[in-house]
Amino acid sequence: MSVTVRVPAKVNVQLAVGAVRPDGFHDLANVFLAVGLYDEVTVTPADGLRVTCEGPDAAQVPLDRTNLAARAAEALAARYGLDPAVHLHIAKDIPVAGGMAGGSADGAGALLACDTLWGTNASRAELLDICAELGSDVPFSLVGGAALGTGRGERLRTLEVGGTFHWVFAMADRGLSTPAVFREFDRLTEGLDVPEPVASQELLDALAKGDPGALAAAVSNDLQPAALSLFPELADTLAAGRDGGALAALVSGSGPTTAFLTRDAESAVKVAEALETSGTCRTVRTATAPAPGASVVAGS
Ligand code: C5P
Repeated sequence: MSVTVRVPAKVNVQLAVGAVRPDGFHDLANVFLAVGLYDEVTVTPADGLRVTCEGPDAAQVPLDRTNLAARAAEALAARYGLDPAVHLHIAKDIPVAGGMAGGSADGAGALLACDTLWGTNASRAELLDICAELGSDVPFSLVGGAALGTGRGERLRTLEVGGTFHWVFAMADRGLSTPAVFREFDRLTEGLDVPEPVASQELLDALAKGDPGALAAAVSNDLQPAALSLFPELADTLAAGRDGGALAALVSGSGPTTAFLTRDAESAVKVAEALETSGTCRTVRTATAPAPGASVVAGS
């Protein structure tokens, strides 16, 4: 008996960051867009809780109780008085520590997979509640599509998307820690008046219209200066994608993955080739958006 759930990566088309809060988090206006790069989480009954991982970056994934997939299984089991005796296997295709919510995807995937396996039938609201406890980006991994996240990013409002967007992603040869990037944001903005984060109406309209040119003109990431400060070579990757014809080039979330919005599928292939030959990144992937949220793909 096993259940497999597929979960998408995300790119933040807008990441507006407010001042640091007393709890150490930052208020955000976070426009998430799910993209068609997926992790798959398979859950099987076992003697105890165990996590394994396969994929090119598998060696960098923690297999202990810090893994969000393990924490998701424990959180659901605790609510229903169950023993989280399962084997969680992650087939990892989303870059690790890349700013594309790969860890969050595994948390949301494990939660849905365990809910299905155990027949707990938790409501959507309950699942979202557990996701929010696990991390700021985890609720969006469950929901997918496009959404505006407020609060620390966990309060979601679904957004309309009027077409398919073509993206290219360049993976770096090392990761960046999200807390470290937020700390660098705090250092860079110290003494400055950081405005309240607000979603851009132009950006929401561009998403609703499915207009890549308008979306490209509106994308923004307040964490980008902090990511570039910690990882200056990313500026070369951004420039290589722009030179290759991307409509917009930005750091994805806290980075270091860089994201390139292109006009169409053909242009995405050209941008991908330009990035590959630039020698400024480790690997390059193309993907379309929006992608669906966590969904059960197989069960036996
Ligand atoms: O919520 P999550 O565990 O994904 O957050 C990871 C880290 O990112 C937090 O510990 C915090 O340092 C930073 N963060 C933040 N403000 C947010 C979301 C995350 O400062 N809204």
